Amino acid sequence: MSIPALSSGLDSPSGAPAPPSSPGAPAPAGSEAIVAAGLRKVYGRHEAVRGVDLTVRRGEIVGFLGPNGAGKTTTIKMLTGLLRPSAGRAAIMGHDVQREPVRAKASFGYVPDTPSLYGKLRGWEYLRFMGRLYRVPTKGAERRAAELLRLFELTDAASDLVEGYSHGMQQKLALAGALLHDPPVLFLDEPTVGLDPRSARIMKDLLVRLRDRGTAVFFSTHILEIAERMCDRVAIIDRGAIVAAGTIAELRGDSSGSLEDIFLRLTGGAEYRELAEVLA
Ligand SMILES: Nc1ncnc2c1ncn2[C@@H]1O[C@H](COP(=O)(O)OP(=O)(O)OP(=O)(O)O)[C@@H](O)[C@H]1O
Ligand SMILES: [Mg+2]
Repeated sequence: MSIPALSSGLDSPSGAPAPPSSPGAPAPAGSEAIVAAGLRKVYGRHEAVRGVDLTVRRGEIVGFLGPNGAGKTTTIKMLTGLLRPSAGRAAIMGHDVQREPVRAKASFGYVPDTPSLYGKLRGWEYLRFMGRLYRVPTKGAERRAAELLRLFELTDAASDLVEGYSHGMQQKLALAGALLHDPPVLFLDEPTVGLDPRSARIMKDLLVRLRDRGTAVFFSTHILEIAERMCDRVAIIDRGAIVAAGTIAELRGDSSGSLEDIFLRLTGGAEYRELAEVLA
């Protein structure tokens, strides 16, 4: 497995895009990288996710929007094999998540909403561990780890125990770990939460550059401005069901409203305006 150096396309703004070269990633840009078909999750009597269908292709960023409790994290956990769906199926790079879990998991990186890293490891040890887990050859892994630490400005903290990292530092280390094997697919659950403006910018630029070299990026966010600026398409989930999906222009249709207006209209937020007026 060859791991292209980050410097070939990621950490220099003017760097020429490197061709996608990832483990088990023969599919060209534009092909289906993430497929959810009829995904459903029932907790007791509560149907948290009610038959979600979605597709993310290589070379696109898709934002996953929805109110608190709408089912974003649950859907992402089913797509990444952390939760068994009550019904439906998910496939990553053509590998069924339930039937071919190892192949599916080898082809994506995942940063959960609250990463739980190993506190007793040092930053560089965590990345070395991730490199071994994903069977990245040692030399390539060391080089890439050093570049990722530099990109996320963690080089000085690399020898410190992870338990001493701030929330934002842990978030960045988790992202570095998810990128170490240069996966063709990336899942991020609210990736900018806890990041300072500079770190958030580094991460957003990185995601755009990864997209440009063929990575499929699927991330949830409550920051509609980020979705509007970065995403090729968005999917909006409300009470477990996708209520809209497409480009921002498609969602906007003939109206001139912002994504916030569209979001509030689709998720019933507009009705709270009246309540706010009464309370004010
Ligand atoms: N382990 C669980 N047991 C029971 N119910 C759960 C469990 N995890 C999630 N739920 C429920 O499933 C629904 C969807 O939760 P989920 O965490 O997917 O929402 P979300 O869209 O990620 O919300 P947020 O924006 O707050 O992160 C909620 O009603 C939640 O209470
Ligand atoms: Mg969530």
